[in-house]
Amino acid sequence: MSKGKLGILLSGRGSNFEAIAANVRNGTLDAEIAYVFSNRAAAPGLARARELGFATGTIDGRHMEREAYDRQVVAALKQHGVDLVCLAGYMRLLSGYFVGEFPRRILNIHPSLLPAFPGLDSQYQALEHGVRVAGCTVHFVDENLDSGPILMQAAVPVEDDDTVETLAARILKEEHRIYSLAIAWVLSGKYRIEGRRVLRTAMDI
Ligand code: GRF
Repeated sequence: MSKGKLGILLSGRGSNFEAIAANVRNGTLDAEIAYVFSNRAAAPGLARARELGFATGTIDGRHMEREAYDRQVVAALKQHGVDLVCLAGYMRLLSGYFVGEFPRRILNIHPSLLPAFPGLDSQYQALEHGVRVAGCTVHFVDENLDSGPILMQAAVPVEDDDTVETLAARILKEEHRIYSLAIAWVLSGKYRIEGRRVLRTAMDI
């Protein structure tokens, strides 16, 4: 079977992208990063991707209608042969068009135990709410925010002396661990989706 060709979409720091790239490099994730795209030309993650020698691209979408923008992004992803799209801190909601072009082939990582605390500032929301357990989620992407079927979650404790920063750092460590695991699982094809549930299949079919 040919290697999974990943397209990474990011808007900022890019630490999840770097964790995926490290796992590809050291052989723990059997995939290829075919393209790294950002809607922000100045995203540090994009600069890092260039330094690491990956094919990169950026389109300024600030004044563009969502679907018109996504048509360009999808075209670029397809040009690079991408077959699994990984959102890694990508701050744009995807259009129905985009989602339809990669059915069940778009993943996202979110820094909360969904469905708790979707949207922005999840770690702040978790602290404010007073939860004792926080964490992160890798899920399939649909047209709604942080809402598709869940692939993997990891939990971390919330300590009494946590700040948003210390909690976010504890969660981020788990993000870096489980995103690659979830990608490998999807690439293996050893799952089936029943309703909202993503279930393991023991054998190759
Ligand atoms: C992560 O916390 C991720 O869960 C969220 O955006 C943040 C991106 O961080 N979707 P980074 O750019 O990967 O460092």
